[in-house]
This record gives sequence, structure tokens and C-alpha cells, in this order.
Amino acid sequence: MNNDQLKNLEQIDKTNLFHPITNLKSHTSEDVLILDRGEGIYVYDKQGKRYLEGLAGLWCTSLGYGVKELAEAASEQMTKLGYASLFTSKSHEPAILLSEKLIEMSPYDKGKVFFGNSGSDANDTQLKLYTYYNNALGNTSKKKIISMGYHGVTVASASMTGLPAQHKLFDLPADGFFHIDTPHFYRGALENENEEQYVQRLTQNLDDLICKEGPETIAAMIAEPLMGAGGVIIPPTNYFPSIQKVLTKYSIPLIDELNVHLVELVMFGVLIHLT
Ligand SMILES: Cc1ncc(COP(=O)(O)O)c(C=O)c1O
Repeated sequence: MNNDQLKNLEQIDKTNLFHPITNLKSHTSEDVLILDRGEGIYVYDKQGKRYLEGLAGLWCTSLGYGVKELAEAASEQMTKLGYASLFTSKSHEPAILLSEKLIEMSPYDKGKVFFGNSGSDANDTQLKLYTYYNNALGNTSKKKIISMGYHGVTVASASMTGLPAQHKLFDLPADGFFHIDTPHFYRGALENENEEQYVQRLTQNLDDLICKEGPETIAAMIAEPLMGAGGVIIPPTNYFPSIQKVLTKYSIPLIDELNVHLVELVMFGVLIHLT
């Protein structure tokens, strides 16, 4: 592609495309990186420059680019049956067999698969299921969500995401969403505080929040076991065992986003643990 063609494509982008998570003002004056193709762990722009795709898309192209088997399977299925929903007891073979395989791959020996379109959609679904469950049991005031980490961009999942930039000017988080400390020892520890004391302080803060809001009003806590968007941060070793004790004490379920990710690796969706 020559320079004029590239500039023309860039102009069409700037005129017609609304980019998410982008400063739309600076986008109008900055160069646009237009990708063309991918191979393995690399992607190439329109001028053939090669980039190492370290993030694997948005963590979702972990099988790499240009995988022939995936292209062939998609082509075969699109030719055979290009679309079918799972509404009202309709089903199809690929969904049935994939659900079985995902259960086999999951850490649970029992459960069901609910397919979605994205990670944000998956987390909205988690929330809807807890709302449905609590309403069905008559626990109609058990709706609050405690959150740690990144969970997406829709109204509910952005409310769960702990990034102020995703809240500002969107009137988010919506009512009933509460954020706890990010377990990032390097950035968050007080002077002379060791890892154990740091974990204890964060655990106490969680306990205090639950008591302040009322344990009987909290539907669930959602957390990223390893914070991806936050900078690939691994929490202190004892963080999850420590907060799990508090959640168990108040019978608050933990939505572990690792399970959402497990399914995202194969296809965007959500794995619901029913046991
Ligand atoms: C932990 C986590 N949850 C949810 C999401 C949202 O997924 P999506 O961008 O597919 O809506 C992401 C995206 O990167 C994520 O890292």
C-alpha cells in the first residue's frame, strides 16, 4: 500500500470510526496504527512493519495469528449453519460439544456453560444470575457488589471495574457497587509495612466495608486473581486465602474471574459454577 492510499485509509478512519478507550481529540491529529495481518505471535501493519503482539489482542488471541485449523473450522461452520441462537430450547451441535469440552477443561466436575459475546457481557451475566438467584430466594435486598480489578466496559462491568477513567462522566459506578483496595504491595504498602501486615490491613478494610454496608445486602464479590489491565500484578501470596476467610465468615460468594478467562481462551463466554 503506498503512502497516499494509507493516508486515505487513515482519513476514512478518523471520519467514520469511534474508537473505544481512546482520546478522541488526539486521535484526530495522531497517526493511526492500521494492522493488516498476523502470523503466530506477530502482527504486521499496512506497510509490512512487524510487531510482537505481547498482549495477545485483549488477552484473547492466545492461540496466535493465522491458525489454519481455526480458519478452516470457522469457514466450514459458516457454510453449514452460519447462525443459530440458543433461546427457547433451540440448540446446535457445536454449542453442545463445546460446553462438554469446557466442563472437562474447567476445575469443576459439575456445572454449566453459558455463552456470551465478550468478557464484559460475561460479567454482566454473572451479576444478572446473582440478582435472579437472590430474587428467586426472596433475598431482594441482597444486591450489592464488592469489586477488585478490571471487569469490562458495559454499564455493570464498568461499575465493577476499578478505574476512575471508566467512571468519570459516565455516572458510574452505579448504585450498589463498592471497590476495595488493589492488592499491589509495591505501590500500596505503607512505609515499613511488610507483606503480611499489608494483607492484614487490606483484609480488615474489606471486613469493615462489609460490616458498614451490612453482610446481608451483599450479593457477591468479584475479583481478578491476577490483575491484567492493572499491569499484570500478582497479589501477595496470602491475599486471596485471607480475604476468602472474611467472605466465608459472612457467606459472600467470590466470583473468580479466572474462570471467565478460562472460557475466553476458547470462546468469549462465562462458566457458571452451580455446585
Ligand atoms: C479480567 C477481565 N475481565 C473482563 C474483561 C472484559 O472483556 P471484553 O473486553 O471482552 O469485554 C477483560 C478484558 O481485557 C479482562 O481482562
